[in-house]
Amino acid sequence: MKDLAPKKGDLEAIETASRDEIAALQLDRMKWSLRHAYENVPHYKAAFEAKGVHPDDLHTLADLAKFPFTTKQDLRANYPFGMFAVPRAQVRRVHASSGTTGQPTVVGYTETDLANWGQVVARSLRAAGLRAGDLLHNAYGYGLFTGGLGIHLGADALGLTTVPISGGMTPRQVRLIEDFKPDGITVTPSYALSILDEFKVQGLDPRACSLKVGIFGAEPWTNAMRREIEEAFDMHAVDIYGLSEVMGPGVANECVETKDGLHIWEDHFYPEVIDPVTGEVLPDGELGELVFTSLTKEAFPVVRYRTRDLTRLLPGTARSMRRMEKITGRSDDMIILRGVNVFPTQIEEQLMEVPDLAPHFQIELTRSGRMDQMRVFTEAAIGLTDPARREAAGKTLAHRIKQTIGVSVKVDVLDTGKVERSQGKAVRLVDKRPKES
Ligand code: DLL
Repeated sequence: MKDLAPKKGDLEAIETASRDEIAALQLDRMKWSLRHAYENVPHYKAAFEAKGVHPDDLHTLADLAKFPFTTKQDLRANYPFGMFAVPRAQVRRVHASSGTTGQPTVVGYTETDLANWGQVVARSLRAAGLRAGDLLHNAYGYGLFTGGLGIHLGADALGLTTVPISGGMTPRQVRLIEDFKPDGITVTPSYALSILDEFKVQGLDPRACSLKVGIFGAEPWTNAMRREIEEAFDMHAVDIYGLSEVMGPGVANECVETKDGLHIWEDHFYPEVIDPVTGEVLPDGELGELVFTSLTKEAFPVVRYRTRDLTRLLPGTARSMRRMEKITGRSDDMIILRGVNVFPTQIEEQLMEVPDLAPHFQIELTRSGRMDQMRVFTEAAIGLTDPARREAAGKTLAHRIKQTIGVSVKVDVLDTGKVERSQGKAVRLVDKRPKES
C-alpha cells in the first residue's frame, strides 16, 4: 500500500494547534452558539429556561454540563423547520433522515454552513490521503441522505475530480472503477463488499485496480473488516463519521498514517461522552454515549445532541484534536439476549475469523415461549460448495460466538447472494419478536 500521509504543510493550522488554542476557540464559539440557539429557536429558549440556565452562565467549557440535552424526539416534535435558527429563505439546502422509524428529521444549512461542511469534509478526505487532482468515486447515495452530497462538497473544496455515481447498479460501479481509474472510493463498508463480489463475478482482480484508499462510514464496521477490505483491494481503508443532525459526513475522520480512531473536528463540533442512563459527563477514556454541541452552525445549531452512538474520547495523535474510538454500535442496536449484551459488530468480528464464510451477515431475533433466539444468516465463501465444509464453517462461527460473546446462536450458511445486500447502510438486525404491549 502506498504511503499517503499528508505533509505537515498541507494541513490547516488548527489541525496541529496547541490544546490551549483549541480550547480558547471552542469557548468563544460555544458562547456564540448557545446564544444563537437561545435567541432564535423557541425550543432552546424553553428548554434552557426549564433547566434554569441562560447562555451567560457559560464561563468555561465544563459549564456546558449545566445545559439541557437535545434528542431526536425534540427534532421530531419541531418537524419540519421548527429548529431552524435563521429565516427559511436563508437556508440554502435541507437534508432529511429516511424516517423509516418515525417522523423524518429535517436539517438545514446556510451558505456559510455549506462552506464549513465542505471544509471539514475536505479535511477528512485529506486526512484519508487524497490530494487536489485525485479522482474520487463517490458511491454514497445522493439525495436527502447527507452522504453523497456531503462528500461531494468536500471533494470540490479539496480540488478532486468527482465521479458522482451514487449507490446501486453494482456492475456499472466496477466498470467505472476499471475505466476511470479512481484514486479513492467513498462508500458504506457493506456496499464496498458488494462491489468486491462484483469484481470477482466479472473475473477481475480487485488488487490490480487503481484504488489507493477507501473512506468508509455511515454504519459501524470493525478493524477485522478493515483488514479484509485492505487485503482484498490492496488499498488503505479509513473510517469517516458523521450524522445529519450535527452536519453529515465529516464530523470526524481517521488519519491514514495512524488509523487509530477518528479525530473529531473539534473547532466545529464539541464532543462529550455521557453515561446514557444518568446523563453524567464521563472523563475522557470512558465508554459512553457521544453528545455533540455545534460551534459554528447557523441554520441548525444543536446543543448537547444525544447521538446514541457508543464510543470513548481519546487524546489526539496525528492531529491535536481528540479522537473517538471506532464506534462499537448504537444504543438502539444493542441486543440483550438472555441477559447478555450483544452488538452486531461483535458478530462481524467473529465472522471475519472464519475463512470459509463470506463477510455478509444478518441477525434475526425470534421468540419461542419466553426464550429469545438469535439466528445469524451468512454465506459460504464464493465458490465453496462442499456441504461438509460449509456446515463445519457454520459450527465454527457458532462456537466462536459462544466462546467470545457468551451466547448460543444458530448459524445458517447460505449460498452466495442470499443474504440481503444494501446499496447504502446494511440492515444488520431483523427483530421478529412480538412487540411488548
Ligand atoms: O450516515 C452521515 C455519513 C455519511 C457518515 C457518509 C459517514 C459517511 P445519518 O444517516 O444521519 O448520517 O446517520 C448517522 O450513522 O449516528 C451512526 O450511528 C452511524 N454512523 C455514521 N458514521 C459511522 C461510522 C450519516 N463511521 C448515524 N461508524 C450515526 C459507525 C456510523 N457508525
